[in-house]
Amino acid sequence: MKRRILEKLREKEGAVSGQTLSAQLGISRVSIWKHIQQLQALGYEVVSSAKGYRLKNSPDVPYPWEFTGRDSKIIYHAELASTMDAAKELARKGCPDFTTVIAGRQTSGRGRLDRQWSSEKGGLYFTMVLRPDLPPVLSFRVSFLASLTLAEILNEMFGIDVRVKWPNDLLVDECKICGMLAELEAEADRVTFINIGIGLNVNNNPPPVEPAATSLRAILGRRVMQKEILSRFLDSFEVQMQAAAYNDVIERWKQFTVTLDRHVRVVTTREVLTGKAVDVDDTGALILKCADGTLKTIRYGDCFHQSP
Ligand code: BTN
Repeated sequence: MKRRILEKLREKEGAVSGQTLSAQLGISRVSIWKHIQQLQALGYEVVSSAKGYRLKNSPDVPYPWEFTGRDSKIIYHAELASTMDAAKELARKGCPDFTTVIAGRQTSGRGRLDRQWSSEKGGLYFTMVLRPDLPPVLSFRVSFLASLTLAEILNEMFGIDVRVKWPNDLLVDECKICGMLAELEAEADRVTFINIGIGLNVNNNPPPVEPAATSLRAILGRRVMQKEILSRFLDSFEVQMQAAAYNDVIERWKQFTVTLDRHVRVVTTREVLTGKAVDVDDTGALILKCADGTLKTIRYGDCFHQSP
C-alpha cells in the first residue's frame, strides 16, 4: 500500500485529496491517513493541507516499496551486523533467487581475506542471493559479471571512469570505490546459492587503506541517491543473469580492467606473490608471471597494483 500511495502522490505535482486516494486505492480515508503518518515517520516529507496530501521529499533509503516489481525480494534493515550473515540464513531457508538484503550501516561488515569492511551510514551495503544453474568451478564468473555491470552503470549514471581491478574491486583513478565478497554453497556439481555482497562508497567517508579509497560524493562533489544506483544495478544485473551473460563475461571484463599488464602484489590466504598480471583465465583466475618466468594461477586473493 505504501508503494501505491507514493505512486499516486508522485503522479501529481500538487496535492491529492484523501478522498481521491481512498477511492482510487479502495481503502478508507482513515487508513490513508494512517499510512501517511507511517510514511512521515520513515522520513517521507508529506505535507497535508485542506487540499490533501503532497509529497515534498523522499528519503534516500532503499525501502522495499521503492523497487517496483521486486519489493517482495528486498529486505532492508537500518542496521545489521553484516548483510552476508542475514543473506546466508535466508538462502539456507530457501529464499528466492535475487533476494537482496540491504543495510543502512553494518556493525561487523567484512571484506575478503577476513578483513573488516568499514560500513558507516551513507554507503550502500547489500548482498544478493543468486541461484544460477552453474557448476561451482564457474561460479566466479557471476562476481565478474556483477563488478562489470556495476562499473558500467556508474559510468553511465555519472560519466566517471570506473575500472575493474582483479578480482572484483571497482577503482576510479586507482582509488577503491567498491568491494565485493562472494560466498557459495554447492552440491558436488551444482551451485545451491552464490551470495554476492557489495559495498559501494556513496556518501560515506571510507577510511584510508591500501589501495586508497574514495566515494562517489568525493569524486562528484555532491551527494548522490543510493536508491537509484541500486535499482538500476539490480535491473540490469538480473537481465544479464537471465541471459547467462556470465558465459562470456571474462572477455568483456578484460576490456574494463586496469590490472592486466601491471606489476602486482597478490595476497592469498597462504602467501604473498609478486609479478606481472598477464591474463585472467575463463574461470576468473589471475595468471601471474613471476620474476623467474614461471606462471602461477591464482584463484583467490587480493591484488595490489604496484606503481607503473
Ligand atoms: C572487499 O573488498 O574486501 C570486499 C568488501 C565487501 C563488503 C560488502 S558490504 C555488503 C556485504 N556485507 C559484508 O559484510 N560485506 C559485503
